[in-house]
Amino acid sequence: MHTSRAAGGTLAMMAILLFSGCDSNRPAVSTAPQAQPDAAVPADDMPQEFKASIFMSADVERTGDVSPSAGASRSVDADGWREVGRSTRLGDPLPGLDAADLARFAEGRDEFEEIDTVKEGLGPLFNEASCGTCHDAPRGGTTGRVETRFGRVGPNGFDPMVEYGGSLIQDHAIGLVQVGDQHFIYVPETVPAAATVKTGRLTTPLFGLGLVDAVDDATLLQLARLEARYLPATQGTPNLVTEISTGATRVGRFGWKAQVPTLHQFSGDAYLNEMGITNPDFPEESAPQGDHAALAFNPFPTLNDDGGNVDKFFDFMRLLAPPPRGRRSFASEAGGAIFVASGCASCHTPNLVTGNSPVPALSRKVFHPYSDFLLHDMGALGDGIVQGQASGRQMRTAPLWGLSARPSFLHDGRARTPHAAILEHGGQGLTARNRYLRLRVYERYALLAYLKSL
Ligand code: HEC
Ligand code: HEC
Repeated sequence: MHTSRAAGGTLAMMAILLFSGCDSNRPAVSTAPQAQPDAAVPADDMPQEFKASIFMSADVERTGDVSPSAGASRSVDADGWREVGRSTRLGDPLPGLDAADLARFAEGRDEFEEIDTVKEGLGPLFNEASCGTCHDAPRGGTTGRVETRFGRVGPNGFDPMVEYGGSLIQDHAIGLVQVGDQHFIYVPETVPAAATVKTGRLTTPLFGLGLVDAVDDATLLQLARLEARYLPATQGTPNLVTEISTGATRVGRFGWKAQVPTLHQFSGDAYLNEMGITNPDFPEESAPQGDHAALAFNPFPTLNDDGGNVDKFFDFMRLLAPPPRGRRSFASEAGGAIFVASGCASCHTPNLVTGNSPVPALSRKVFHPYSDFLLHDMGALGDGIVQGQASGRQMRTAPLWGLSARPSFLHDGRARTPHAAILEHGGQGLTARNRYLRLRVYERYALLAYLKSL
C-alpha cells in the first residue's frame, strides 16, 4: 500500500511541476549549477518530483494506482491523473471506449487497411496503395518497410532537392496513362546523382499514438526546460513546426525527427506522400522526380479526398491502444534500475501525462512511452536530413514501448536487436552507450530483459 501512495504522490507532484511552470522563476540554464556531464543522476538540487517523473515507473505500473486518493494530489486537481488502460493484444482499441468510439475505431481501421486504386486518386507516384501495407504485423504496427530520403549539403546548408522530387522518394508509380490520343508513363523515383545525403526511414508502429497526440505542448516544453536545467548533458530540444490547419506553431512529436505536430496532420501527410492522394491539408500532388510538367497527365487532378478518409485514419490511430507490456521477470524488474543508472531514462522518459481530451480514455492519463519526444544530437547516428528545426544530427528519442514486437530498430532499420541499437548511440547518447558497454554480463542481461518487457 505504501508504494502506491508514494507513486500517486510523486506523479501528482510531477504534474504540478509540469503544469505550474514553477521552474520559470529559477535562474537561467547558464547560471544554474551544472551537473557533471557524465552523471546519470545529476545535481543534488534536482527536485525529487522531477527525479520521480523520469526515474520511477515500475511502482506505478505495478499498482496501476495513481488516483488522487492515493496521494497528495487532491488539493491539486479534483480529477487527478489516472493510469492509462492497457489492452491485452496489439492492435486492439483502447479499453473503456463507448459504443460510438468503438464504431469509429472499426470504420477507421477498415479504411486504413483498404487498398486504394488510381480511380480513387492513388498516385501518380506512391510508396504503397494502403496504410496497412507498411503499418501491419499486427495491424497498426510495422512490417519493417524502409523508405528512402535524400538531399545534399551545399553552401546554404541542407537542400532537400525539391526540384528532383526530394526529400522523400516514391518508389512506385501508376505506369501507363492514356489521355486522348497521347500517352505517358509514370515511373518510380530514384535518388539523383547529385545527392550527397541518402538515408533509410523505417516504418514506425502506431500503437498508443492517441496518447502522444493528447499531450499538451506546454508539457513537452516544460520537460525540455527541466532537462536543460537538471540533465544538461543529454537535454532535448523541441522541434517547433507549423500546424497546417491553424497556422499555429506547435511542438512536433511524430516521425523520426518529431517533424509533425498532430496525428491528424500526419494522416493527411501520409495520404499524400505515401499514397499520392491529395487532401485538404495537402492539396498539391507531388511532382514526379520534381517534374511539374509530368502532372499534365495526372488522371485525377482535382482534390482526391475531401478529408473524410483522413478523419477515418485519425480515428483509428487515435483510438489504438498502447502496446501491452511484455513478459516480466525477476531479471526484467532488476533491469529497470540499471536502465536509470545507465542514463537511458534521461531521454527515454518513462512517464508522460496527457491533457484534457474529448475521449475520456485519453484524457488526463499517465502513460509510459519511454520517450521525451524531443530532439537529441546523436552524432554520427543522425541521418543528415533537416526537417523543421531538426538538424541533420538530431533525432527524436525513439519510444521504447512495444519493443519486443519490433522486427528492426533505429531510423533506417540497421539494428536487428536492441543491443545493436544501443551500440549505435553517439553524440548525447554516447555516455549512456559506454555505460552499457561497461555493465557486467548479468546486468546487461537484466537491462535487455527490461527493454523487452516495455
Ligand atoms: C510505404 C510505407 C508506408 C505507408 C503506405 C504508410 N506509412 Fe506511415 N510511416 C511510414 C514510415 C517510413 C514512417 C516514419 C516516417 C518518418 O519519420 O520519416 C511512418 C510514420 C507514420 C506515423 C508517425 C508515427 C510516429 O511514430 O510518430 C503515422 C501517424 C503514420 N505513419 C500514419 C500513416 C497513415 C495514416 C498511412 C496511410 C494514409 C500511412 N502511414 C502509410 C511508412 C508508411
Ligand atoms: C541522448 C538521448 C538518449 C539516451 C541517453 C539514450 N537514448 Fe536510446 N535513443 C535515442 C534516440 C534519439 C534514438 C533514435 C535513434 C535513431 O533515430 O535511429 C534512440 C533509439 C534507441 C533504441 C532503438 C529504438 C527503435 O525504435 O528503433 C533503443 C533500443 C534504445 N535507444 C535504447 C537505449 C538504452 C538502453 C539507453 C541507455 C543505455 C539509451 N537508449 C540511451 C536517444 C537516447
